[in-house]
Amino acid sequence: MAKAHQQYILMHKNVPVAELELDSASGYISAIGSIYNDRHVPVGILVKNGRIDRAALNRWWEGRAIPTSREGIRRALEMMKVSTTQQLVDKCMGLSLSDQYWICPKKSKVKWEDVNFFEHSFSDDVGNILFGKDTKAKEISLMSPDNTSDGWLKKKWVIHKGKRYLIKGGSGAIQQEPYNEVLASRIMDRLSIPHVVYVLITQEGYPYSICEDFVTPQTELISAWYIMQTHKKPNNVSLYKHYLNCCERLEIPGVKDFLDRMITIDYIIANEDRHQNNFGAVRNSDTLQWVGPAPIYDSGSSMWFSKPNTLISARAKIPCKPFKINHDEQIKLVTNFDWLDLSALKGIDEEFREILKGSLFIDEKRRDILCFALRKRIEMLEKIVNLRLTKLPEDNIEEDVTRNTAYNGH
Ligand SMILES: Nc1ncnc2c1ncn2[C@@H]1O[C@H](COP(=O)(O)OP(=O)(O)OP(=O)(O)O)[C@@H](O)[C@H]1O
Ligand SMILES: [Mg+2]
Repeated sequence: MAKAHQQYILMHKNVPVAELELDSASGYISAIGSIYNDRHVPVGILVKNGRIDRAALNRWWEGRAIPTSREGIRRALEMMKVSTTQQLVDKCMGLSLSDQYWICPKKSKVKWEDVNFFEHSFSDDVGNILFGKDTKAKEISLMSPDNTSDGWLKKKWVIHKGKRYLIKGGSGAIQQEPYNEVLASRIMDRLSIPHVVYVLITQEGYPYSICEDFVTPQTELISAWYIMQTHKKPNNVSLYKHYLNCCERLEIPGVKDFLDRMITIDYIIANEDRHQNNFGAVRNSDTLQWVGPAPIYDSGSSMWFSKPNTLISARAKIPCKPFKINHDEQIKLVTNFDWLDLSALKGIDEEFREILKGSLFIDEKRRDILCFALRKRIEMLEKIVNLRLTKLPEDNIEEDVTRNTAYNGH
């Protein structure tokens, strides 16, 4: 019979961080033993009087599992013969392609360089199953970075010519997200905003975006959600200011300029889902020094992706995250537009039309409506920028502290 509890060391590359006990049935952390290195405890998990908060570490651990809302996850779990996505995490030793944490069985001598997915190949069994394919393998290998991939869209990691790429699908009857990722990449190219480059591929008529892993064996992505957990947010401080304060204390360079650009691109593409795990910062995983904001990724839930044609309009109210509940308010947080050359976006609507032409799900009418709405958003932004030029910068200081902070990041 399998043991009810298993003993592990939480590792950060080859640095032992803390002793952990995992409950085999649930995959959750049932106890935390000695802490070996508190500097390497995951960012945002507080250590008080030499103890790690187990609930907080469990939430972090839970965040490494595929969310239960992931499309097709029930069927995939059945095929893999595991009952929860959490159990998949320890099948790949908790390793991922976005950071450098993992768990090592307590008496094992395994080193990070023996197992990490940046330098070792992995089976595509899990990826294929997540993509709804039957696997031919008699024995399914569960050693895959797909076990620790976040987000609700269907996705899998692949290796091509030695590089790691993430392939991600679209949702619903319109399957628009992959096209939006490509559009966002093209806009950010033109505006010189550091971003992850997404390219379109199709498989069996369905569109997917593909992007390269921007994390390397020496770096890691830490999401804004965990950066915000490094200090308690006072009630009278807005979420925007709190993020800036946390980044300043951690000495993450270039965050204000980055936020100016992220808020602006999200305004243009009417992004609905820039939650606190859809942006963040990169740090060196050996020295723990912060490199800077992560290049902009995951911009697909935008451009009225889930709306019928009749509800698409540049002025329609759409949800907005993370700092304000509508884009007209959020764009006021931009401190400086000097970097923004909107003339660089001339003809981007026609470029979008060409990108959309490959879709079996988006007809000519929707293409026209989307391209028109995109042009309008750019015009609206232009008005905002021009109006700003006639005002004093001090008029722009934001002080709304009503934005939600209870959101758990997922
Ligand atoms: N190019 C990349 N390099 C490294 N890590 C990445 C990359 N792209 C995505 N990730 C990681 O994978 C996670 C999931 O990817 P992504 O946010 O694109 O998926 P999603 O399904 O669109 O998410 P959501 O649920 O926010 O819509 C990201 O939060 C990030 O941690
Ligand atoms: Mg995401």
